[in-house]
Amino acid sequence: MYVLGIESTAHTFGAGVVKDGKILSNERDTYKPKQGGIIPNEAAHHHYMLAPEIIRRSLKKANVSMDKIDIFAVSQGPGLMPCLRVGYQISRFLSDKFNKKIIGVNHCIAHIEIARRSTGLMDPVMLYVSGGNTQVITYENGRYIVFGETQDIGVGNMIDKIGRKMGIPFPAGPIIEDLSKKGKNYIKLPYSIKGMDVSFSGMETFVSRLLNTKKKEDLCFSIQETAFAMLIEASERAMAYCKKESLVITGGVAGNDRLNEMGRIMCKERGAKFVRMEKEFSGDNGAMIAYTGYLMRDYETMDVTPLPTYRTDAVEIKYR
Ligand code: ATP
Ligand code: FE2
Repeated sequence: MYVLGIESTAHTFGAGVVKDGKILSNERDTYKPKQGGIIPNEAAHHHYMLAPEIIRRSLKKANVSMDKIDIFAVSQGPGLMPCLRVGYQISRFLSDKFNKKIIGVNHCIAHIEIARRSTGLMDPVMLYVSGGNTQVITYENGRYIVFGETQDIGVGNMIDKIGRKMGIPFPAGPIIEDLSKKGKNYIKLPYSIKGMDVSFSGMETFVSRLLNTKKKEDLCFSIQETAFAMLIEASERAMAYCKKESLVITGGVAGNDRLNEMGRIMCKERGAKFVRMEKEFSGDNGAMIAYTGYLMRDYETMDVTPLPTYRTDAVEIKYR
């Protein structure tokens, strides 16, 4: 069974093909604003322009033709409405044209499922960290439960906003990571963890005020040390409370070496398991949508209209 997955919730347009659960291709392109943050209509325009080529590349790599696709899986949300519409319209058109099933996939759950597959850890606590989302998730009774989350902005978003003020283009995460490796002096930053929840806007404001007086490298180092310690503390608490023996980190920020190192150290100290996921699949991509669509293959064809505020815990998980 072939599934074509389409991702277009925000900055990335991706298309991936999965055959019986095996990933055959994962093609993508990311919209990069010339200056400032993402302009949703511009990102959608990028997706419309590149979609045909990326889908074609993905099919070619998987060595399959469109008429052989059994299910069209599309990332239904959460995300930016103009961007979501691109993926929706393309997959709806293809499913009608080839008279095949269409399945709407929750983007956050796709990040989770591809991480479970990538690490082989079946029932971990999941730290899902990206631009728009920051959640500590566990699985209980047929749902992914959001155990803790950010009360304001996602950790990636905070990093991107500070990056922009430092003159670093989007996405700032990898460049901030490089700068942080050269930082030597820790600057004390607001450490905001409230129960299971975290918050990052205070750190963003605080760092913004120091931009002219402190070294970039030291600031980047301190942002990472503080923000990631908060995330690992919340994850550890969830592991203890839910009696889970392993941790998985997923989402774009999971590409960060230091965050993974902190996760590994915490798990080692608890006698729990930690496996780092493959970087290719941590950020937004089409293969994770195709793979999750494959897991959902026996679900009814759903009303797949875009859902910009689609919650992780809104989905009934019937395949676990
Ligand atoms: P979501 O809809 O899941 O919130 P997203 O649109 O934010 O997804 P992702 O590709 O999952 O997209 O994550 C992108 C974020 O990850 C950006 O904020 C980017 O700066 C951040 N990021 C990428 N690589 C790194 C890194 N090495 N270190 C820190 N942050 C990173
Ligand atoms: Fe994402």
